Amino acid sequence: FRLKKWKSSVSTQAKMPTCNFVAEKYKSYPYEHMQKIREQNISPSLRMYYKKPLLLHQGHMQWLFDYEGRRYLDLFAGIVTVSVGHCHPKVTVAAQKQLARLWHTTNIYMHPSIHEYAEKLTSFLPDPLKVVYLTNSGSEANDLAMFMARLYTRNFDIISLRGAYHGGSPYTLGLTSVGLYKHSVANGFGCSTVRFLLIFLIIWVTVYLNISTVNISSILKVLCVCHANDQYIEQFKDTLNTSVPKTIAGFIAEPIQGVNGAVQYPRNFLKEAYQLVRERGGICISDEVQTGFGRTGSHFWGFETHGVVPDIVTLAKGIGNGFPMAAVVTTKDIASSLAQNLHFNTFGGSPLACVVGAAVLDAIEEDGLQKNSEEVGTYMLLELAKLRDKFEVVGDVRGKGLMIGVEMVTDKDSRHPLPGEEINQIWEDCKDMGVLIGRGGLYSQTFRIKPPMCINKKDVDFTVEVLNTALQKHMERAAAK
Ligand SMILES: Cc1ncc(COP(=O)(O)O)c(C=O)c1O
Ligand SMILES: *[C@@H]1O[C@H](CO)[C@@H](O)[C@H](O)[C@H]1NC(C)=O
Ligand SMILES: *[C@@H]1O[C@H](CO)[C@@H](O)[C@H](O)[C@H]1NC(C)=O
Ligand SMILES: *[C@@H]1O[C@H](CO)[C@@H](O)[C@H](O)[C@H]1NC(C)=O
Repeated sequence: FRLKKWKSSVSTQAKMPTCNFVAEKYKSYPYEHMQKIREQNISPSLRMYYKKPLLLHQGHMQWLFDYEGRRYLDLFAGIVTVSVGHCHPKVTVAAQKQLARLWHTTNIYMHPSIHEYAEKLTSFLPDPLKVVYLTNSGSEANDLAMFMARLYTRNFDIISLRGAYHGGSPYTLGLTSVGLYKHSVANGFGCSTVRFLLIFLIIWVTVYLNISTVNISSILKVLCVCHANDQYIEQFKDTLNTSVPKTIAGFIAEPIQGVNGAVQYPRNFLKEAYQLVRERGGICISDEVQTGFGRTGSHFWGFETHGVVPDIVTLAKGIGNGFPMAAVVTTKDIASSLAQNLHFNTFGGSPLACVVGAAVLDAIEEDGLQKNSEEVGTYMLLELAKLRDKFEVVGDVRGKGLMIGVEMVTDKDSRHPLPGEEINQIWEDCKDMGVLIGRGGLYSQTFRIKPPMCINKKDVDFTVEVLNTALQKHMERAAAK
């Protein structure tokens, strides 16, 4: 355990990149009054980050401003949702214009923007994924995808992966496989999960780093990737052999697990899994709620990084840059299964949502955000990998593009998660230095970095400096014990 190095080495505070935007003055209730309302009138199930939760009132691109005028670099983007930047000027103008023109008609009439948007959105997807059903949230989209899989195949069972998050609605909660979100009510009828027996071993030999960009020995990579894939696919077969009937409705997976802390799979795993599912009469659903819209950098959709074409994709979060909207995109055949009878959604595909969705797609293209995710994300992964090499407690740095996980451990040999209170302090210190980071993983042991895709290398340098300082402080606390 290398503690001696950390004697009072904390550098002076990192300098936040400049920002010309001037936030308005905060004019609402005092902080304490907000807290009181929170306690009395807002559901206690909505838990907040940080010992003293933030009170934010304005945003501009990658920046957030609090009630006291403090500026923060937002590396969590309202949970991977602000894709092109807070209040992106073009998206905001498009929304404002539509707001004055027409908000809502519902789907019993035609309005132009749903048609324009459906055409534009599907132009980003390969054949035969050309039919769109718009909803309002990711949970709703996954509910609908499950429903369609069952209607279309006339089978019932759906498989998901351990550690997955697909939503909190009663239907999707059966697919979600993170203990924190489970409640003691009947759920998950017809849902089975695939276990990753070797998940820790696999993470720790940094196997799948082949599909990320962090540099490790290529020999190790080859050895581990082959071995890991066998292990993963054997687990998949085990579920097929033991937990489901001969024919199934489908399989759903995120291309990179989000809530679980940017967990990746070995190359070819999804490809082989898709084949096994289709042999059983099932269809394959790619949950692109976090990985879609260019975030992985190399590709516009996460499934493309695995060389597969799903039968259904579900989209939410980044699709609307924070506007509540989501989508299920599928084939003509599968979509028609839902037309056997009526299925209705009042708000889905509203004129306002469709205009926002189209403006977001334009902004991704015009601002070159997929390319930026690749360049800035790769740079960030490589810079963070230096912290992994420097600090014993940084167990793993992984991800792709601007979908990054930094896993904290007690030490690299045992790979045990760093105790919660120690991670919390590092995380609070980052916040106090102006950097907002997310959390994920079974033990909340992984820092999640999934910023608006407009961040730049200066923001990365600042982040790495801040994290470095927070980690040095941590080492000093540990040495003083
Ligand atoms: C991968 C994934 N799918 C689905 C959902 C559910 O989306 P929503 O919160 O919009 O219902 C989430 C939300 O975090 C998610 O991360
Ligand atoms: C990866 O490591 C090799 C060998 O150590 C080195 O030559 C190469 O420049 C590294 N690549 C990156 C992107 O750091
Ligand atoms: C690693 O990734 C590259 C493409 O990024 C691929 O060509 C190579 O075959 C992969 N290696 C293994 C062991 O899968
Ligand atoms: C699943 O069943 C098949 C056919 O009986 C068998 O060949 C295979 O070894 C089994 N795999 C697992 C992981 O149980």
